[in-house]
Amino acid sequence: MSILSLLLLFIILSLQWKPLTSRTWIKAGYWYTGSEYPIPNINTALFTHLICAFAYINSSTHDLVLLTSDEPYVSMFASTVKNSNPSVKPLLSIRPRNEYHGNDENSSNFFIMAENPAYRKSFVESSIKMARHYGFEGIDLYATTLLSHYLPELDSVSYPVDSVRKKIDWVHVRSYDYHTPMTIDNFTAAHAALYDPSSPVNTDYGINLWIKRGLPASQLVLGLAYHGYAWTLADPKNDGIGAPAKGMVITKDGSMSYEYIKKYLRSYRVNSEYNSTYVMNYCAIGSFGIVFDDVEAIRNKVAYGKKKGLLGYSVWQVPNDDNWKLSIAAGKNLPQ
Ligand SMILES: *[C@@H]1O[C@H](CO)[C@@H](O)[C@H](O)[C@H]1NC(C)=O
Ligand SMILES: *[C@@H]1O[C@H](CO)[C@@H](O)[C@H](O)[C@H]1NC(C)=O
Ligand SMILES: *[C@@H]1O[C@H](CO)[C@@H](O)[C@H](O)[C@H]1NC(C)=O
Ligand SMILES: *[C@@H]1O[C@H](CO)[C@@H](O)[C@H](O)[C@H]1NC(C)=O
Repeated sequence: MSILSLLLLFIILSLQWKPLTSRTWIKAGYWYTGSEYPIPNINTALFTHLICAFAYINSSTHDLVLLTSDEPYVSMFASTVKNSNPSVKPLLSIRPRNEYHGNDENSSNFFIMAENPAYRKSFVESSIKMARHYGFEGIDLYATTLLSHYLPELDSVSYPVDSVRKKIDWVHVRSYDYHTPMTIDNFTAAHAALYDPSSPVNTDYGINLWIKRGLPASQLVLGLAYHGYAWTLADPKNDGIGAPAKGMVITKDGSMSYEYIKKYLRSYRVNSEYNSTYVMNYCAIGSFGIVFDDVEAIRNKVAYGKKKGLLGYSVWQVPNDDNWKLSIAAGKNLPQ
C-alpha cells in the first residue's frame, strides 16, 4: 500500500530532528488525557518513554489539533515528565479523529490526508511544529482501526512491512482488546491472550506473523493492558475463562482498570486465578466474571517478550495501575 508507505516516510522524516536512537529495552507507557490522572504522579522511574495521548488530525485542514480541554495537559506533559526524570523520552501520540462521533477514530480521514500531497504536507509540518513546541522528542502514530491492531495484515490489506522496517523506529503491537463484552457477550474471553490453542486471535500468533512478514523482532514492542473486562456469569459456579455469560457488567462497556479490579477483589476478599494456557488471570465475584492481567500474567508476558528478542513493552495505560504493582513487576523482569 503506497499511501501508507509514503505516510510512514513522512512520519520518520518528522522524527529526524531528534532521532530515537535508543535501542535499550523499551518500557513505554501511555497517559491519556481522559484518565484525568495528574501527570506529576506518574512514577517516571519505571519508564523509558512516556506517551501523551492524543493530538488529533483535523479532517478539514489536516493539521494537528488538540481538543481545547486537553491543551493545558498536553502543553505541560513533556516538561513535567522531564523535570521528574530527564532520561525519559516524552512522545506525542497522534490519532485520526471522527468529528461526528466525539473522539472515536475515523480511518477514512487518515487515508484522505495520506493520499493528498498537500494535506500530507500540512499534517507533517503541523505535527513537527506542535511536537517541538511542547517539548516532545518523537511522534507516535496511533491508528488502531486502520487495519487490524495486532496483525501486519487483514484479509487482502497489509502494512508495507518493508517500509515500516526501514523508516519507523518500532511498532507498538496492540496485543489486547481481542474480545471484549461489546464483541462477545455470551462467554467470558481472554481479551489479551498470549496464547490460545484453539484460535489465531492471540499475541504470539500476531508477533510471529509480523516477524514472518519481515519485521525484525527487535522492532516490535509488546502491548500490555492495565485493564480487564467484566461479564455477568450465566452460572456463578462456572467461572473460568470461556464460561457462559450474559453480557457486560459493572461499567458501561465492561472495562475496568486494574486498580478498580483489585479494589473489588480486596473488598470481597477474593483472589484471582492464573491461567497459564492464555497467560491471563480471572476471578469470579458473585455473578461477575472478570478477565484481566495480574502481576503473574504481566511478568510472564514480559519474559516472553525478552525471550522472543522484542524491543520492549508499552502499557495502555499508566494511570490504571494499582500503586505501580504491574509496572514494577514488568520492569523487574530484566535478565539484561
Ligand atoms: C478544524 O479546522 C476547522 C477549520 O479551521 C475549524 O473550524 C475546526 O474547529 C477545527 N476542528 C477542531 C477539532 O479543532
Ligand atoms: C468518516 O469520515 C468521512 C470523511 O470525512 C465521512 O464521510 C464519514 O461519514 C465519516 N464516518 C463516520 C462513521 O463518521
Ligand atoms: C455465542 O454466540 C455466538 C454468536 O451469537 C455463537 O456462535 C456461539 O456458539 C455462542 N457461544 C456460546 C458458548 O454460547
Ligand atoms: C485455562 O482455562 C481454560 C478454559 O477455562 C481451561 O480449559 C484450561 O485448562 C485452563 N488452563 C490451565 C492451565 O488452568
